[in-house]
Amino acid sequence: MLDKIYTARGSPNIALIKYWGRRDDALNLPNNSSISMTLDDNLNTTTSIIFSDKIKSDAVYINGSRQDSGALMSEKLSFTISIINKMKELAGTKSNFLMVSKNSFPSDVGLASSASGAATLVYVANTALELKLPGKELSKIARQISGSACRSIFGGIVRWDRGLMPDGSDSFAEQIVPKEYWADLIDVIAITSQSKKKVPSSEGHKITVKTSPLYRNRPSFAEDGVKRSIDAIKKKDFDTLAELIMRDSNNMHATMLDSWPPIMYLNDVSREIINAVDGLNKAHGQNVAAYTFDAGPNAHIITLQKHSAEIKEALSKIPGVQNVMVSEMGSGPSISEERLISDEMLAANETA
Ligand code: DP6
Repeated sequence: MLDKIYTARGSPNIALIKYWGRRDDALNLPNNSSISMTLDDNLNTTTSIIFSDKIKSDAVYINGSRQDSGALMSEKLSFTISIINKMKELAGTKSNFLMVSKNSFPSDVGLASSASGAATLVYVANTALELKLPGKELSKIARQISGSACRSIFGGIVRWDRGLMPDGSDSFAEQIVPKEYWADLIDVIAITSQSKKKVPSSEGHKITVKTSPLYRNRPSFAEDGVKRSIDAIKKKDFDTLAELIMRDSNNMHATMLDSWPPIMYLNDVSREIINAVDGLNKAHGQNVAAYTFDAGPNAHIITLQKHSAEIKEALSKIPGVQNVMVSEMGSGPSISEERLISDEMLAANETA
């Protein structure tokens, strides 16, 4: 309904089998399918939006600051606005919008802020415009803003199918199992750096595909990892799943290092964490934890609730680990009662 403020809350996801490298850069069509786990809302994006004829011009505030418009607007933001405009066309309205969004965690440090931001925005716009599009369609829209965002449209464990069609119509995400299926699967996150990424992932995808000889084997390796991990998830076989997760992360980061110029997202602390998890698994005689890293040095340790305390203790002993957070699986975006758009903000953006 127009002229009403709607708010949604959504979360990032951590890829267990990663998306890296695209067959179409404009549509974010990947070379391989991927699997992720949506995190709970301790890490969240909250987004309020209103569509109204009274709004002077489209306005976007992220983490407290008005994003510059016109020439100064980032390419990503102007593309995001164009996607919202397409949703407006579908809904048959020309009203402008005011959007306010905030993350409960730092942006651009490899904690998938763009995934939760894009998924939450598409989700709330669908409600505010009364489009009633199903999750599959929302995931295709979110995918165009940021590939990994398509998986944050759903909760639990999610697969993004690479699809084969050139127009991306069969490249969407779907839930494999809800969070309740394997409720004791958790992500222990170790922050090793708060600095912004040196190479944005959208650039990294292109450099690796273009220059890494090792990458040629990556799509078939990852596709096989997707099949095998779904099987392990359905059987709740943690030992097998953990090996698939760690090998996939290592494989992706190997292709990044093999790129020219080389891309290095891991730091020395990340590597210490890999050694510590390896030692822990050896001591247990089976895999009790799996490390995985996205496009950043912060570690995600996938484990089971019963090992949480042991993993947290092991991580906190590693010099350079700044903070340890635990996230359970989440249920995906939902509409919330919170309002990030105050009356003053609304008045300032309305025509007199
Ligand atoms: C390493 O989704 O950030 O996190 O589609 O260009 O926005 P764009 O890329 P993005 O790529 C992130 C890839 C990854 C692995 C993953 O999440 O699957």
